Amino acid sequence: MTIQYLSDEEYENIFVSFCSFRQKLVSKLEEYGLLKSNYIMDLAAGHGFLSFAVKEKGYKNYLVDIGLINDLENFRRTIAIETYNSRNLQFIVMDSSKMAFRENRFDFIVNFLGLEDINMTIGKSGVISTLKEADRILKVGGILEIAILAKGSKPSSILNWKIWKYIGLNSRFYSPEFYINKMLELGLRLKEKFMLRTNKKMTSTQAKEEILFACEEAPKIFKRYNVYPKPFKQVWNKYKKKIKKQGLGFYPIILILIFEKQS
Ligand SMILES: C[S@@+](CC[C@H](N)C(=O)[O-])C[C@H]1O[C@@H](n2cnc3c(N)ncnc32)[C@H](O)[C@@H]1O
Repeated sequence: MTIQYLSDEEYENIFVSFCSFRQKLVSKLEEYGLLKSNYIMDLAAGHGFLSFAVKEKGYKNYLVDIGLINDLENFRRTIAIETYNSRNLQFIVMDSSKMAFRENRFDFIVNFLGLEDINMTIGKSGVISTLKEADRILKVGGILEIAILAKGSKPSSILNWKIWKYIGLNSRFYSPEFYINKMLELGLRLKEKFMLRTNKKMTSTQAKEEILFACEEAPKIFKRYNVYPKPFKQVWNKYKKKIKKQGLGFYPIILILIFEKQS
C-alpha cells in the first residue's frame, strides 16, 4: 500500500474529516447494539467531532464529552446547537483520571485519539488511572472503544514516531498489548481490534506547520502541566532533510481496540 501526500486542500480539513473514521466508529456502536436509552461518553473529546458524528446520525442519546478547558472554547465554536440537539450533548471540563460520575453510569465510552495527550498532561500513571476510571463508570456489559496510533513500517510512519518522541512533549502512544493487558487486569475483555489507515503523509511545508504547533503552541495551551518541548529550530534542523525526502506520516495506521466489561 503506497502512502500518498496530502494535498494542501486535504491538509486544511484533515483533522475534521479524518477520512470518516469517526463515522466508522459510530457504525461500530450500532453493531454493538446502541439503543436510544444508552448513555455515551466521548473521552478526550477535543472539539467534539466524534460526538457530532453520533448526533449527525440522528441519535438523541445523552452524550457527554470529556476534555480540558482549552477544548471547551473549541467545542463551543464548532458546535451547531440546533443541528446537534445540544440539550443532550454536553462538554464537561474534567481530568480523565478523576471523573465525577457514579459507578456503572455509561453504556458506551468512546475515544478517538487523545490518550497520548492524557499522557502528556498527567503521565503514564494518569493514563492508567483514566483506564481504571473508564472501567469504574462503565456498566457491566458496556463497551469501551479506544483509538491509538499503531507503529507502521513505512519510512514516513517510522519518522513520525521518532519525531514525536524527540520533540519531548511526552505525548506517547503505548503498545496495544499495554492497553489490552491493563484492561484485562480490570476485567474488560478485548472483543475486537482492527486498523483504520489514512495512507497519507504530510509534505515538508505541512509537517513544518505541525511541528511548529507542537513546539510553540502546545506548551502555551498546556503550560500548567509543565510540558516543555525542544525548540522548533532544533527539531526542524535535525529532521528537515528526511522530511523533505520522504514526507511525514499523518496517523498512517490507527488501531481500534474494543473492550467489553465483564460481570
Ligand atoms: C487530540 S485531542 C483528541 C481528539 C478528539 N478525540 C477528536 O476526535 O478530534 C486530545 C484531547 O485530550 C484532552 N486531554 C488531555 N489531557 C487530558 C486529561 N488529563 N483529562 C481530560 N482530557 C485531556 C485534551 O484537552 C485534547 O483536546
